[in-house]
Amino acid sequence: MAIQKVGIVGCGLMGSGIAQVSAQAGFATVVREVSPDLVEKGLKGIEKNLARLVEKGTITEAVRNETRGRVKGVTSVEELKDCDVIVEAIIEQLPAKRELFALLDGLCPSHTIFASNTSSLTITEIAAATKRPQRFVGLHFFNPVPVMRLVEVVRTIATDPAVYEEMVSFGARLGKTPVRANDSGGFIVNRLLVPYLLDAIRALEEGVGSVVDIDNSMKLGCGYPMGPFTLLDFVGLDTTYYISQIMFEEFKEKRFAAPPLLKRMVLAGWHGKKTGRGFYDYSDPANPTAMSL
Ligand code: 3HC
Repeated sequence: MAIQKVGIVGCGLMGSGIAQVSAQAGFATVVREVSPDLVEKGLKGIEKNLARLVEKGTITEAVRNETRGRVKGVTSVEELKDCDVIVEAIIEQLPAKRELFALLDGLCPSHTIFASNTSSLTITEIAAATKRPQRFVGLHFFNPVPVMRLVEVVRTIATDPAVYEEMVSFGARLGKTPVRANDSGGFIVNRLLVPYLLDAIRALEEGVGSVVDIDNSMKLGCGYPMGPFTLLDFVGLDTTYYISQIMFEEFKEKRFAAPPLLKRMVLAGWHGKKTGRGFYDYSDPANPTAMSL
């Protein structure tokens, strides 16, 4: 099947990034958000990223305009009905995802392949809301999508091998390095990353080191681009807490259990960079200062 038109559901941080790389790869791209304001916000983010690429000389004005011209923002799910592939990047809640895919299943032709960008929910359970689990995969992208070079391509026991290979190729056409993963909680990256992030919080709780010293240790001692607390604030403490709950539920292992401090910070509304407060205070975004916790 020749993939020509790609639909993205959700134009937040992840959805807008996926829409951008899809358009940059040459696909006609339709991205859906629930309200015109949110569509506008997502498209503005794409325009800002493309403008930065023009400024840096990575792409020409002409390429920017062509790329932007390939992205259409919509508010109605019906407008995705003639897409060859649909990637879902909505709220990380199973009922919402199942409801969306059941609706899309009724709208889309039988050849359309469905993909979820979930980071922790079971793909099998989302796919089971449709009558096409054989044409359903996980496509897990990383934040910021235009920069991070990986996509995890997740197969379930029901995924058709030919569809799976097509999605591995699709990931490569989006400019990413696809890795193959089975439908096991957290796939590859979060299986390893989440216990590491939670362990950093436990080390802080136990007084092993301060936020800044633990961050510097992993950044300067191990060459990670961000220390664990900067990364936690970047990913979102609410998101990490939610993922840890799902993974703990799946594996019942302590390494996936959320430390009490994480829970309390989420309850207090300190969700990281997006709320201005997490392990750092972002009142001055250029110079975050560690919170005293
Ligand atoms: N959108 C587009 N481009 C961006 C961007 C964004 N949001 N943020 C940064 N960039 C670009 C910059 O323009 C710059 O491009 P250039 O090299 O062509 O000039 C490049 O990225 C580097 O940016 P900066 O120089 O401003 O800053 P850094 O060198 O610190 O890089 C970073 C920023 C790429 C975010 C880097 O710190 C990093 O890789 N951090 C780790 C991110 C990470 O681990 N992400 C995965 C999170 S886990 C996840 O998403 C899974 C989920 O399930 C939890």
